[in-house]
Amino acid sequence: MRSMNLVAALAAVFSCLATAAPAPEQPLLAPRAGALTQVQDFGKNPSGIKMFTYVPAKLAAKPPVVLVLHACAWTAASFFGSTKYGQLAEQHGFVLVFGQTPKDGDCWDVSSDQTLTHDGGGDSTGLANMVRYALQKYSGDASRVYVTGESSGAMMTQVMAAVYPDMFAAASEFSGEPAGCFRTGSVRGWNSQCAGGQVKKSPADWAAQVHKMYPSYTGVYPKMQVYHGDVDKTLNINSFNESIKEWSGIFGYSGTAKQTIENSPGARLTKYIYGDRLQGIWGHGFGHVVPTNETEALTWFGILLAQLHPESSP
Ligand SMILES: *[C@@H]1O[C@H](CO)[C@@H](O)[C@H](O)[C@H]1NC(C)=O
Ligand SMILES: *[C@@H]1O[C@H](CO)[C@@H](O)[C@H](O)[C@H]1NC(C)=O
Repeated sequence: MRSMNLVAALAAVFSCLATAAPAPEQPLLAPRAGALTQVQDFGKNPSGIKMFTYVPAKLAAKPPVVLVLHACAWTAASFFGSTKYGQLAEQHGFVLVFGQTPKDGDCWDVSSDQTLTHDGGGDSTGLANMVRYALQKYSGDASRVYVTGESSGAMMTQVMAAVYPDMFAAASEFSGEPAGCFRTGSVRGWNSQCAGGQVKKSPADWAAQVHKMYPSYTGVYPKMQVYHGDVDKTLNINSFNESIKEWSGIFGYSGTAKQTIENSPGARLTKYIYGDRLQGIWGHGFGHVVPTNETEALTWFGILLAQLHPESSP
């Protein structure tokens, strides 16, 4: 299995080398020294989470705001340092907000009723207040606010999209769970049934659970992009289908892919397009997690312009 994947990966690399002309890429600007800045008083923060920002030297007029959420056992700084978001912010002028859990090593709270309720008093409330603060401080564009994360941060990405659908235009999550799947009623609970892939619901039941998180909301929900690896042993692979069912229920999609694109956005990834607002990306031979693809996420958000890829032409 492992050696087959390696062979496939090498084959993909060689076919790229053989066919792709060198792309005329703009050089990435290095993030400035000091990198993230901690913000102390950003508003109501009932669970004591931490806010960090990265503001590029040349801020766009009415900049977009991108909220980035780390995995368990990571910090804002370690996740920032492992991604290209700083360089891309320098290039495109958007504001980055990195959240951080109260204690190093903590996961995000995706299980309590507080966090699963609009302005309900959990981590989700603190994160929403970080976004509100950043929008105000940098005169950001409230119609261009986005959220992304890996693992626990991916679960929290889905929770933010479900609990604050009015705040986010799009979300991109790497190896998470459907919003509400991890509910235990306790703060930072571990839901082993959800993690084990035993929580299965119809699209209508998932959608009803999401609507209960913000019952008075009648507007559109953020566009959702879901990644999952097919050999993920931490968060069972069933979560991919359950996430697709949840957001299909929200958007009124059939849940059957309208288009399937192999090797998109990269090698060993298959992109399933369920409708304009929902994509699933299945990783072949990927465990936990499918690594963040910053340029694909920013393209999904509309911050970067979509490149025309040969495989997506009819
Ligand atoms: C997910 O759904 C697809 C299509 O409905 C199905 O072929 C596949 O077996 C499902 N995967 C899992 C892990 O249940
Ligand atoms: C990330 O996405 C871009 C398209 O947005 C693609 O060109 C690139 O190959 C992807 N990278 C990986 C590692 O999949």
